[in-house]
Amino acid sequence: MSVDVAVHEHHGFEAFAMGDPFPVYEELRREEPVMFDENIGYFVITRYDDIKAVFADWEHFSSENAQAPIRPAGEPAKRVMAEGGFTAYSGLSARVPPEHTRIRNVATKAFTPRRYKVLEPLVRENVDRLIDRMLAAGPPADIVAGLAWDVPTITILTLLGVSTDMIPLVKEWAGSRAAMTWGDLTDEEQVPHAHNLVAYWNFCQKLVADSKRDPQDDLVGDMVRLQADGNEISDHEIASFLYSLLFAGHETTTTLISNALRVLLGHPDQYRELGASPTAIPAAIDEVLRFSPSIVAWRRKALADSEIGGVTIPRGSNVLLVMGSANRDETVFDEPDLFDIARKNARSHLSFGFGIHYCLGNLLAKLQVKVVLEEITAKIPGLRLIEDQQIVFGDNLSFRAPTAVAVTWGEGN
Ligand code: HEM
Repeated sequence: MSVDVAVHEHHGFEAFAMGDPFPVYEELRREEPVMFDENIGYFVITRYDDIKAVFADWEHFSSENAQAPIRPAGEPAKRVMAEGGFTAYSGLSARVPPEHTRIRNVATKAFTPRRYKVLEPLVRENVDRLIDRMLAAGPPADIVAGLAWDVPTITILTLLGVSTDMIPLVKEWAGSRAAMTWGDLTDEEQVPHAHNLVAYWNFCQKLVADSKRDPQDDLVGDMVRLQADGNEISDHEIASFLYSLLFAGHETTTTLISNALRVLLGHPDQYRELGASPTAIPAAIDEVLRFSPSIVAWRRKALADSEIGGVTIPRGSNVLLVMGSANRDETVFDEPDLFDIARKNARSHLSFGFGIHYCLGNLLAKLQVKVVLEEITAKIPGLRLIEDQQIVFGDNLSFRAPTAVAVTWGEGN
């Protein structure tokens, strides 16, 4: 495939650079909203309407590449995974109809609001405990390590009936999955992550096997009971769904909690406003998701020759949908670079995708951030960012996660 390298350099798009990609997104929307990036071999789509249309058209744009390693595993990592019996791929997001429809139906019957709404008191208890721990230790604190790391991880582990002693391991596995699938690692760098993926997958399979012997009152037990009641889903598919949840169920929410506080504290008047009017919190969460999404880009594959924004996309092409850009599209959002918790159409963001793969856990994610914001604005109204800190976002194709957000309160800085 040919590409105008001069144009590529001119736009300065760097697929893995997550520092501040928004000015480049803006330039791409304006000048080349459908651009082929030779470095990753993807068509990069940056306008809102084009992205939404691709998400909606699953018959022509399949999600089969959504979990494919952007840099395929090298021989050493492949060997580790083959020897370890690693056969996981995707629970749902990279599955396509009719398989996707069948598995999502069963998953939806198990992953009900009843299953996770009862967790709200537990979430609140954990949030309070972690904030109190921060307060007792005194300033400064890191929001990521001190709060955002544990809250959603405890929730998802509880939902799956897994001990919270597993937090460090589950977080390590999730980091390995993010690096192996959406990262840019050398063959040597991949090896320790490959070992982690083997352990992670074996753990998911064991969860299913244990639950089949002795099903508990948890989400795994629900899946096993649904299978026994005649819903068509294999043990391998249940284990794959758990493999999804043990990643998607916390990684992106950790980022959302971190981003919510990072962005709100960057606009102290809006942080204070939430303390005074907690009913404004749900709308503020959508504005955080719009302004600083946990996932800035997601993938699709063209199943037929197609056209996006007037550009021909040959059959078999890989397509990168940059939701982080769609969310700043000036044809949809007025003054898109302005963070405004009162924005009327913030909910139109595409941060949870759109269409048949729309994020299954969006309400659980929002519930947890809501509790965090309710509690922290009430308990630490004077919370503020440490001035002049350099916030670092790890290199990644899709996940834009701050590694630390330093905060303080009380006197001094
Ligand atoms: C801020 C938090 C989250 C964000 C930004 C997020 C984002 C996304 C995105 C972009 C997709 C792909 C949508 C598409 O292809 O159209 C997705 C799918 C999915 N998410 Fe989330 N997610 C979050 C939290 C969660 C949580 C907490 C869970 C579960 C507990 C979860 C479970 C899933 C699953 C299972 C899918 C695949 C759905 C399918 O393919 O049918 N997510 N999410």
